Amino acid sequence: MLAKDRLIVALDVPGATQALPIVHSIGEAATTFKVGKQLFTAEGPQLVRDLIASGRKVFLDLKYHDIPNTVAAAVKSASELRVTMLTVHASGGSKMLRAAVEAASQSPHPPLVLAVTVLTSLSDVDLQEIGVSGNVLTQVLRLGALARSAGCGGLVASAKEARELRRELGEGFAIVTPGVRPAGTAAGDQARVVTPTDAIAAGATHLVVGRPILEATDPAKAAAAIVAEIERAAAAD
Ligand code: C5P
Repeated sequence: MLAKDRLIVALDVPGATQALPIVHSIGEAATTFKVGKQLFTAEGPQLVRDLIASGRKVFLDLKYHDIPNTVAAAVKSASELRVTMLTVHASGGSKMLRAAVEAASQSPHPPLVLAVTVLTSLSDVDLQEIGVSGNVLTQVLRLGALARSAGCGGLVASAKEARELRRELGEGFAIVTPGVRPAGTAAGDQARVVTPTDAIAAGATHLVVGRPILEATDPAKAAAAIVAEIERAAAAD
């Protein structure tokens, strides 16, 4: 995999007015952009179509979680947009996950179905509150294994979880890791951050990076520096 294809720029902005200048200023330095709930709710699928028509790849991060039929239909619609990756909640259960994977596989342009295990905003106490008895890591590993056996192509996981998931589940699936900060950049509201080098060493295949690129004086330069770091880390791995 090319180092450039391993960087995903999170377009965490309110609308196309903010997103498109960033995409243009990044130019050739990155190819994949994450469109999440905020931007998608504001702009709808046309922005996704426009990004893809301009040669970019889109990671559609809408974290589907519903009955299998509804999730399959949403995945079909996302596949028709030709997104490269999309997310579903592993806690939707194996029937929902299999329905998502099957809907993706029926597309002429199958997107990678990534499962979200436990949101990093949740603590062990939060899990108890919703009736989950295990701790966060146990639940991450449990849902990760469930998503793998349902045929999902990968998982979204913090660097710490990535290491454990690789140890438990082995190779052959994508791990997409947020919470990445190149050395010397601000952590923002991320409680635990890792460098691109550490994330790759932990087993991440893709890194999601938002503010260190979006808020850089030169977003193209910031993206290129991360791609170069990924390349070095992958060579050393
Ligand atoms: O700006 P920053 O690099 O922190 O953005 C990280 C991106 O990854 C955001 O879109 C955020 O919602 C997402 N994310 C995260 N932590 C998770 C899952 C997703 O930061 N556990």
